[in-house]
Amino acid sequence: MTERQGRMAAKILLIDSDAATLNWLKVKLEQESYVVVTARSGDEGLGKLEQDQPDIVVLDTVLADMDGLEVLRRACADERGTPPWVIVFSKKYQPQDIAAGFQAGADDFIGKRPGADAELIGKIRGHLAQTYARKPAPPPPPPPVNGHIFSFCSSKGGSGVTSVCVNVAYALAQVQPEARILVVDMVFPFGTIASSLAFDSRRTVARMTHEPTEEISRGVVEKYVSAPLKWGFRLLIGANDPQEAGNLDAARIEPIFKTLRTMYDYILVDFGRTLSRISLPIIEISERVLFIVTPDITTVKGAKLMLNFLRSRDIAFDRIFLINNRTVGRVWTTAEDIERELALKVNAMIPYEVEYMTMATNDGVPFIAKFPEHAASAMFRQVAQKLREHVQGVSK
Ligand SMILES: Nc1ncnc2c1ncn2[C@@H]1O[C@H](COP(=O)(O)OP(=O)(O)OP(=O)(O)O)[C@@H](O)[C@H]1O
Ligand SMILES: [Mg+2]
Repeated sequence: MTERQGRMAAKILLIDSDAATLNWLKVKLEQESYVVVTARSGDEGLGKLEQDQPDIVVLDTVLADMDGLEVLRRACADERGTPPWVIVFSKKYQPQDIAAGFQAGADDFIGKRPGADAELIGKIRGHLAQTYARKPAPPPPPPPVNGHIFSFCSSKGGSGVTSVCVNVAYALAQVQPEARILVVDMVFPFGTIASSLAFDSRRTVARMTHEPTEEISRGVVEKYVSAPLKWGFRLLIGANDPQEAGNLDAARIEPIFKTLRTMYDYILVDFGRTLSRISLPIIEISERVLFIVTPDITTVKGAKLMLNFLRSRDIAFDRIFLINNRTVGRVWTTAEDIERELALKVNAMIPYEVEYMTMATNDGVPFIAKFPEHAASAMFRQVAQKLREHVQGVSK
């Protein structure tokens, strides 16, 4: 018996639109003492894949709602951890079908024909024996850290909060490669960080708030945070769509951030244009609030209202880091006007980068990665440097 089987039975997810096949396979596999979860559609399968974290997926290619290979592609594209072992189990098993299955990411392919159940059980046993015999002991969890939260927000949509947040994260990772940096998209009902970095994940904060465990442990958080992206930071997405966002349990947001602080040195949170029961408690415990304004009077007036409100919540102005971002070419309000109106010093000016900023977004990369020599990139680095100095000053 393998080590894993000795501890607990392996979990197998069967995705097949045919009820008879599902029942037949379920009985066979349960006789082998595996835990079996079933799904009758691709969509249900994707949900259970995430919810049940199976060790192995047995997948039909012909499903009622989608091509089974689409399920496979999405499972393989998931940035989180090791994808499960996928065995395609299909009545279409011509050479071209098998080739398409492997191309989509299948680990094995079995044709639905007499004797296929025995073949399937053999493959499953073989795979589990190999995997768990080779599996190294998990590394010990890293020591807890006292992470610093930096909130990014604005008084008007489209001010550049996401652009600043993502690029500052990247710049921080460049100056401090050893730092554990997390970017959290807390824009609801859905944010744009995932699409601006060509990142796709169904693991969101909204879903995490429904974790059955009483405590949101580091282990739970680990399941939702992305693997390190090539730009040196990790990502956590708030919600992927309005329905998911509507189901979010706001009471669990603070406990989630408490746990995040024990895992990452820098937690950069994109709150977009919002002051809500979700964002306020986190803004209140933020080290700094990076407030983005654009040089137009409505944004500046809105910023004044928001900043006064923050002050009424005991967020002193010295915690506000004011950034003047030129999202548009024309300037209606100068930096001096802004400083006078807000009674605050502008800490950084991000120049207008015409269409280059949007070009980077359309390519799914941070602006600095694409245009490192541009003036805005130098400013993002400067902001990152200031955050770094602040954190170093705090930890001294
Ligand atoms: N300094 C800049 N120069 C040129 N374009 C910019 C600049 N900053 C941001 N942009 C562009 O302005 C648009 C809005 O930026 P971004 O999405 O970062 O703003 P946001 O405040 O996060 O918006 P939302 O309210 O949708 O979350 C994007 O198309 C972005 O590429
Ligand atoms: Mg945004």
